[in-house]
Amino acid sequence: MNAKLSANQRAHELVSAMTIDQKIAMLSQSQPVDAHYGAAGFVPGQPALCIPDLVLNDAGQGVGDAQLNTTAFPAPIAQSSSWDPALQWRFGAALGWQAWHKGINVQLAPGVEIDRVPLNGRNFEYMSEDPYLAAQGAVAEVRGIQSNPVIATVKHYVANSQETNRMTVSSDVDQRTLEEIYAAPYEAAVKQGNAGSVMCSYNRINGTYACENRDTLTTILKRQFGFTGFVMSDWGATHSTVPAANAGLDMEMDVKPGQYFTAPLKTAVQDGQVPMSRLDDMVTRIVRPMFAVGIFDHPAAAEPAAAAVNVQRPQDIALARSLSESGTVLLKNQGQLLPLTGNGKRIAVIGPGAGPAGAQQFYNGAGSGHIPEFGAKSDVVTPLQGITQRALSDGDVVTYADGSSAAAASLVGETADVAIVFAGSQDSEGVDRSTLDLSSGNCSFVVCTPQPVDQDSLISQVAAANPHTIVVLNTGGPVLMPWLNQVQGLFEAWYPGQQDGNAIAALLFGDVDPSAKLPETFPASQSDLPTRTPQQYPGVNDAAGIPHATYSEGMLVGYRWYDAKHITPLFPFGFGLTYTTFALRGLHLSAGRGRPALANATFTVADAGPRLGAEVAQLYISDPRNAGEPPKQLKGFEKVLLKPGARTKVKLAIDFRALAHWSDSAHRWKVGSGCYRVLAGDSSSNLPLSATIAVGGARCKGAKLHVSNALLRRAARGHTT
Ligand code: NOJ
Repeated sequence: MNAKLSANQRAHELVSAMTIDQKIAMLSQSQPVDAHYGAAGFVPGQPALCIPDLVLNDAGQGVGDAQLNTTAFPAPIAQSSSWDPALQWRFGAALGWQAWHKGINVQLAPGVEIDRVPLNGRNFEYMSEDPYLAAQGAVAEVRGIQSNPVIATVKHYVANSQETNRMTVSSDVDQRTLEEIYAAPYEAAVKQGNAGSVMCSYNRINGTYACENRDTLTTILKRQFGFTGFVMSDWGATHSTVPAANAGLDMEMDVKPGQYFTAPLKTAVQDGQVPMSRLDDMVTRIVRPMFAVGIFDHPAAAEPAAAAVNVQRPQDIALARSLSESGTVLLKNQGQLLPLTGNGKRIAVIGPGAGPAGAQQFYNGAGSGHIPEFGAKSDVVTPLQGITQRALSDGDVVTYADGSSAAAASLVGETADVAIVFAGSQDSEGVDRSTLDLSSGNCSFVVCTPQPVDQDSLISQVAAANPHTIVVLNTGGPVLMPWLNQVQGLFEAWYPGQQDGNAIAALLFGDVDPSAKLPETFPASQSDLPTRTPQQYPGVNDAAGIPHATYSEGMLVGYRWYDAKHITPLFPFGFGLTYTTFALRGLHLSAGRGRPALANATFTVADAGPRLGAEVAQLYISDPRNAGEPPKQLKGFEKVLLKPGARTKVKLAIDFRALAHWSDSAHRWKVGSGCYRVLAGDSSSNLPLSATIAVGGARCKGAKLHVSNALLRRAARGHTT
């Protein structure tokens, strides 16, 4: 308990004082899930050693599981759409604060898996199809959570891309793709965020379960990334004692008390099948981040009082609202119908997502990310409430149809100046969506019910009745939009959390300018997806009956695929409109010192429109062809808020990793010589600024900057991500 020592020293001192039974007692779930005041996991403390309880709890959109009186923030995919890591840090900090006051000291968040398959039922819990964007969000959220005496758990490691056959499927993925695409957000969360814990996933990776996979756990995570915290299994993802322990799993979690890392592990250690040094390592890895974030020195709130406490502060509710405002993407605004202006308007609010029943379904995704799990929340502001309240100040009249009858909804729409249709579906852990459209059934972890109405047809009929129709989507990922040409306005609001109605009203009426950008590509058709064969998704069984999903698209995930195959998506990655207009000008490259920047890209962003607004300036790198990389990849971005007529300089660092690729033969990151294009703009499909860097003595036409081999060597040492 000497707080003057480092976390590492304290961890070693503690472990050296422990008996084998005391060590084993640290390694598994001790009670059925939810039994400890509604938490997902519980490892009892050991008062004789001053070890506090470990209370583990889900936290996708807020402090979840069976916790009550916590804030439902927007889904991670919505947060990621803000392209605003500073805001994501604030989310993490609020999450950690609420957790700690609920008696929780390990958060099972953030989810950073790559959105490989748009049908995946859990994409709403993740951040992006792009590893760089996911990495920035992961680092911010981990740091925010761990600014409290609470450990963050990055999940679900790794290549956990689908819910179909989630307990058995093998993700068969090549090494380079694993390093560059799937493992990269974890690497950043560990190296830059100092995440205390990583959760291994249910699936197999190249035939071996993620929680007993030496390649991913020990070789990549612990050795290559230098991870010094602990790996816990997803609930029920531990399948063995000796193989799992020796492969690098440190803690067994389940919905029931542990069975592998209990007495069988003690026997295995005594028999010499698992070395005592490995057991010590497991425990050291658990207590080290506990010391580092302050769990020993600042115990979480005590139960049973903590379970009853309302931990929602006014600033958390305000944060939930601003996260939703910042994460709702404006995708279409024909004829500048938005924002809604003037007084005395007749506004028709229509659809299953607008009223109490639908809003209860759509504010949150389903499964362990739900707030509260399997429950409803009493303080959700529905779109109908939010819009009605806001409309009062303009003297507008709001009418409402729940959309259960398209004919009745059209009648309501017809007599209004503007019709706003709320449509969506609730994605869920445990099940993938069966299609990308909104017309068919909707399943969740808990229930599988047909949609009450064909929402595509509802939108289409309302739009036929009123040319000024706006659609607001509450979905966990991309959907097809057969009605797109019929509607004038479109928002993707994802799952907006409990401030749903207030946030969408602020955007519709222009109290806040939309500034979000898509973290996922929206395809024009399901047949355009990168995963188009059954071998890729959902996978086919081998002779032993094990399903294998073959990642044969390799690194061509999301926009990388659409670029490479010259397929025009419905809406590209990085796209989102605002109510003002921005101009990007004058890309200039300057030399960096190699640590961390090899080069800096500078350009001007100006608000050339009539309103205050925020733009996300994006930087992509296009590698020389012989590098074998996708056509271009996001390597930097910055969100800037500008007044009308104002301008600012954006400076983005281009570091070693921005130019590097994973070399299988050298087993490390390498930057080859050649001509690298630097592209900047406001979406992956609008990159008007470009310049070339000549690397390693390459001759490149019009190169603005040369990066020498000497500088590369300097940069290669000690790079992070
Ligand atoms: C299973 C889910 O996959 C995981 O995300 C969650 O953290 C655990 N259950 C605990 O609820």
